[in-house]
Amino acid sequence: MDNPGKDAETVPQERKDDLRLLSGNANPELARGIARHLGVPLSKMEAGRFSDGEIWVRIEESVRGADVFLIQPTCPPTAENIMELLVILDALKRASARRITAVIPYYGYARQEKKLKPREPISAKLVADLIGVAGADRVLTVDLHVQSIQGFFDIPVDHIPGGPLLAEDMLSKGLGGADTVVVSPDVGGVGTAKALADRLNASLAIIAKRRPEINQVEIIQVIGELEGRRAVLVDDIVDTGGSLAAAAKVLVEKGASEVYAYATHPVLSGDAVQRIAVSQIKELVVTDTIPLPPEKRLPKIRVLTVAPVLAEAIRRVHGNLSVSTLFDRYWEEDTQ
Ligand code: R5P
Repeated sequence: MDNPGKDAETVPQERKDDLRLLSGNANPELARGIARHLGVPLSKMEAGRFSDGEIWVRIEESVRGADVFLIQPTCPPTAENIMELLVILDALKRASARRITAVIPYYGYARQEKKLKPREPISAKLVADLIGVAGADRVLTVDLHVQSIQGFFDIPVDHIPGGPLLAEDMLSKGLGGADTVVVSPDVGGVGTAKALADRLNASLAIIAKRRPEINQVEIIQVIGELEGRRAVLVDDIVDTGGSLAAAAKVLVEKGASEVYAYATHPVLSGDAVQRIAVSQIKELVVTDTIPLPPEKRLPKIRVLTVAPVLAEAIRRVHGNLSVSTLFDRYWEEDTQ
């Protein structure tokens, strides 16, 4: 090349840096939000379907030598979105991207992370293996169902807890203090609920539940003082809505004055929205790790965006800066 300086001047301003953002079809609105906050456009890519349903992908600009962030939550339709993620990763790897980070705001299959009965799979590990094999060099994710899933990947995982974002919203609407009790709807969520209770100067309550069948909930016991208090239920996932609705009913029976619910990932499958609508939950606050189509939008469901925090995390990963210092000054979660 005779005059490299001249060529560099022809590179558009936003392409002088080697950061590239791409989005699959799972949550393009969140991807656009992240792009806006970063001030980096989404790279052009097509991810379509052959007539038999197989996925085809074409990345329409060079990613050679680039630091690529591919945004694709593995939310419903889960198998489609996982497969699309894998196929795009393969395309990026074969296009000679320097480093590929799979940004997975919601990691589907996380609830199948151990064998509860003989001859069951550990699907959370299988999906982690597939993502690594397909070409991801790193993963950036939000509020994993259990943090030990980080170890299922043989590549670095940056994990953003959902709690700090939810805590800010709770504080902004005046929740907290002696008349507020943060409630974990199951034993697995106690670490997050305790951290939130500390942040809100509130007390803590814990529900022990069991699942007689898949997707069914039975509440066994509630530990903690509810009488006359505002209860704030906190969960990582709201799927059928069964856990939150059953918990709200018991909390009101135990004397709670009102019940708010927070869940990072709004899977909201089947009749979930209807179940939430008729439940004793005053408001359900979720995030946009999973898109909420118009038919799932109720006046009592409010959506917070994770775009700013994901944009900042991407900026830090790209610049080799710490991601944990985004929140660890004021967030301590004991997940033991
Ligand atoms: C389970 O352990 C999770 O933390 C959630 O509690 C669960 O996924 C919620 O499911 P559902 O809304 O179907 O009760």
